[in-house]
Amino acid sequence: MPKLPSPVNEQIIQFIGGKIQVPDQPVIPYIEGDGVGPEIWRAARQVMEGAVELAYQGKRQILWKELLAGGKAFNLTGSWLPQETLLALKTYHIGMKGPLTTPIGEGIRSLNVALRKELDLYTSLRPVKYMPGAPSPLQKPENVDIVLFRENTEDVYAGIEFESGSVDAQTLVTFLQERFPDSYARLRFPSSSAIGLKPISREGSERIVRTAIEWALHNHRKSLTIIHKGNIMKYTEGAFMKWGYALAENDFAEQIYSMHQWKETAQKSGEAAANLELEYAKNAGRLIIRDMIVDAAFERAIIHPQDLDVIVTTNLNGDYLSDALAALVGGLGIAPGANINFVTGDAIFEAAHGTAPAIAGKNIANPSSLILSSVLMLRYLGWNEAANLVENGLRKTLASRHVTADFYDQVKNATLLSTSEFAEQIIQRM
Ligand code: NAI
Repeated sequence: MPKLPSPVNEQIIQFIGGKIQVPDQPVIPYIEGDGVGPEIWRAARQVMEGAVELAYQGKRQILWKELLAGGKAFNLTGSWLPQETLLALKTYHIGMKGPLTTPIGEGIRSLNVALRKELDLYTSLRPVKYMPGAPSPLQKPENVDIVLFRENTEDVYAGIEFESGSVDAQTLVTFLQERFPDSYARLRFPSSSAIGLKPISREGSERIVRTAIEWALHNHRKSLTIIHKGNIMKYTEGAFMKWGYALAENDFAEQIYSMHQWKETAQKSGEAAANLELEYAKNAGRLIIRDMIVDAAFERAIIHPQDLDVIVTTNLNGDYLSDALAALVGGLGIAPGANINFVTGDAIFEAAHGTAPAIAGKNIANPSSLILSSVLMLRYLGWNEAANLVENGLRKTLASRHVTADFYDQVKNATLLSTSEFAEQIIQRM
């Protein structure tokens, strides 16, 4: 994809030799989003600006550049996702965005999925960590410290779907009937079946598993769990698991211990010997690689969340799991996310939730999700001082039981704040 003519080169974030180079005054594009987007964006921006100012006393500053997407773009330009927005995100490498509306069951395809696909943002990074003061259905929510890596470009999200009754769906059904009669026989109602395809490639699986392993090693985490539904979808989800183990064992042999190896030792020398090997690997600080069927992972996350550390999974599993995990630590209002291509460096930081239409425009949404996404972005820039200020400000605000409406009923003796008041409290407590 071509890039926009560079406006002022010294204000552009660059990736040289795989390393990010950030000028003191980088231009960072943002899309405010639909629904609650504009109000949570205003709050997050205010908090970021407060933190950057406090941390660097004017030496560093973000130069925000608005890009259009979603409803605002459609109203102003007639396009839901103008080409210029994509070009600018490519040019400036990093962006922030609020949620964008996607119609269900009809209409335009998801703009979020389109952005991830166009920029090949193959990693969805979703950290889920409890902050004292946030409501939780768990008895010991402090046990939740999970970092989820979701593959972001493949799976049923690739958008290869054919509508029931369409010529395309019928063509595929006829093709199955002629070429793959066994598969055709599995279609319960062939003439009215809608058909979707689930592509999972080796390259796509390997790059997300590699990213998750490198992140886990860099951050001294204890285990990485490959989550899949390989018992049912053997050649897609099952392959994701197999390729993941193979990559870990081949490319990180010295740094990891895989449960695959454990099984081999157990078969050869018995479980006691395998357990000893595992203990040894743990004591040596190796990253333990194991796998779990996705339904079991949901159960485990609720009953023993401390068993899940770093997780890597396919696109749809990751979508479901990340919202469920968010519910353990307060819900969607406090669930940050980043979409990153670790090869090109391109990244979009966003709230994990949607446009929350029922509460939009009322100044009551919780901006924590986008605020925590801004922490991820500031750390990505290497601006850790500002990131720490934002995180501490949010932590102290929650700990003092100052909360937005989504938390209010669930937290005893809480003080109810609007979206903008919540942002002000964070800034005051930095
Ligand atoms: P949603 O995430 O907008 O809302 C689900 C529930 O969480 C609602 O009860 C909502 O009020 C609550 N909620 C969400 N964010 C909140 C916040 N910041 N503070 C307090 N409560 C919050 O999901 P829904 O309703 O399924 O989707 C609405 C629209 O958003 C759809 O068009 C959907 O496609 C889109 N969407 C966009 C995403 C994105 O831009 N990344 C992600 C998910 C959905």
